[in-house]
Amino acid sequence: MGPTDQHSTLVATLRAAGCVFAEEEAGVLVEAAAGDAARLAELTGRRVAGEPLEYVVGWVAFDGHRIRIEPGVFIPRQRTTWLVEVAAQHLPGTGGTLLDLGCGTGAIGVALARRCCDLVVHAVDIDPRAVAVARRNLAAFDVHGHAHRGDLTAPLPTTLRGRVHVIAANLPYVPSTERALMPADSRDHEPPATTDGGADGLDHVRRLAAQAPGWLRPGGVVLVETGDASTGQDARAADAFAAVGLQPEIRYDEARGATAVLGRLGSHGELRAR
Ligand SMILES: C[S@@+](CC[C@H](N)C(=O)[O-])C[C@H]1O[C@@H](n2cnc3c(N)ncnc32)[C@H](O)[C@@H]1O
Repeated sequence: MGPTDQHSTLVATLRAAGCVFAEEEAGVLVEAAAGDAARLAELTGRRVAGEPLEYVVGWVAFDGHRIRIEPGVFIPRQRTTWLVEVAAQHLPGTGGTLLDLGCGTGAIGVALARRCCDLVVHAVDIDPRAVAVARRNLAAFDVHGHAHRGDLTAPLPTTLRGRVHVIAANLPYVPSTERALMPADSRDHEPPATTDGGADGLDHVRRLAAQAPGWLRPGGVVLVETGDASTGQDARAADAFAAVGLQPEIRYDEARGATAVLGRLGSHGELRAR
């Protein structure tokens, strides 16, 4: 079989396994195998068995970068580049401080560090596998900062209190009962704790709202991703920020089908009365 026939066979195999973007995936698998036929067969076998492509090849494209990933760590979604874009609008051009809470691979922190000069990134995740991957990604992209293991802000040094420009937190926000409706790739391969946000999906967001004001500098913002307006999560997250005295704002991006909800601390560090 010539190379063209091999490529066509690979595309047909992937298509038969239900891969919608079979052509593109074939190209990614061939590149990852680097000319090793046995390796290509192994990678293709894993993909055909239903493992997400990103786990199979060990990287995910995010905001123009190749971010390293390993099985068991949440796969960054393209819609989350909206959170990155909104966060960048609230960071200073140089010398900002960012908290990436629920960091997974650390993709948000890396993307923002590539957009903003001398950004210091503190990334936190509760899962040690994610922390290890985030640590490697921060180092690979030469990002100033640290990856910490723990619950939301708990592991952060207290010297950061009152000094953070932006908290960007893509925390789990799928309502528990709706996890069963997620695409099989995610449901069967990403740990439940990476997506399950409790009864209405906002358990983590409410806990974060209570903690955020103590870490923000005057005028700083906390920013989360939620479901769209049809879920009501956007308005409820905005309410959670308002309830702790932060000024809420909801930002939609239709092209990406993405919703970001932010809460801003007053420019003199004051909290607003409800
Ligand atoms: C939806 S994933 C997002 C990961 C990453 N921010 C991204 O956008 O690719 C949520 C992440 O939050 C982490 N997480 C869940 N509960 C947490 C908690 N209480 N404290 C810190 N991280 C948590 C999960 O392990 C998971 O990596």
